[in-house]
Amino acid sequence: MKVGYVQNSPIFGEKQNNFEEVRSLLVRVTADLIVLPELFATGYTFVSKEEATEVAELQDEITADFLKEISHKTGATVVGGFVEKEGNKIFNSSLIVSGNKVIDTYRKLHLFYKEKKWFTPGDKPLKVYDINGVQVGIMICFDWMFPEVCRTLSLQGMQVLAHPANLVMPYCQSAMVTRCLENRIFAITANRVGQENRGDDDFTFTGGSQVIGYDGKVYSSAPKDISSVSIIEIDEIQANNKKINEFNDLFEERRPDL
Ligand code: ACM
Repeated sequence: MKVGYVQNSPIFGEKQNNFEEVRSLLVRVTADLIVLPELFATGYTFVSKEEATEVAELQDEITADFLKEISHKTGATVVGGFVEKEGNKIFNSSLIVSGNKVIDTYRKLHLFYKEKKWFTPGDKPLKVYDINGVQVGIMICFDWMFPEVCRTLSLQGMQVLAHPANLVMPYCQSAMVTRCLENRIFAITANRVGQENRGDDDFTFTGGSQVIGYDGKVYSSAPKDISSVSIIEIDEIQANNKKINEFNDLFEERRPDL
């Protein structure tokens, strides 16, 4: 499977300009699975629920249309973040889109910091998608700090994790090596770069998007501070084998009984 990430540099509130940057980064790129950052077209640092609601969309509006365009051009299934609305609730969500079809949205379960003031925590169960025979799961950014997210998806048969992010703390890139090792899965973390100084907050996003293997190896790692794209070939079948030697099987030896 050819997988990878887009690491972009969104300008707050400028969806069309942010679509254009991603479009230009993906010229002549082909792949099977491409992951874009959390909230890749809106920016991250909202100052009120009203402001976040202004850029919110139903699951099949302009961000979905843009991801369909990207999916057509690259041949890939595409995962990327947006603000999803349903009634008077808004969620920090990611779309999974293939060709002309929105497959689903994932709604971030674990909200970070002031996200709790505007977003409703995810209310849909964790789920693995069959993408042309490959088992793909989704979590968003701070979900990394709750190892049960990745474990739950892995126990459902996930081979490849799509992980849109807007990371501001320095720990996730290394922690994802452990998430991959303990579950023997591949993970694609798509982070953004740039700075947002809004309200009382001044965030510098840490870039360093990456693809980590079931063996904990870093297959691809982006710079900290510039937009970039990386597509690599992985052998997702390796994620089916949970044995690390002839005695130890990481899934069979779990002790939920105790
Ligand atoms: C985060 O969850 N965006 C830090």
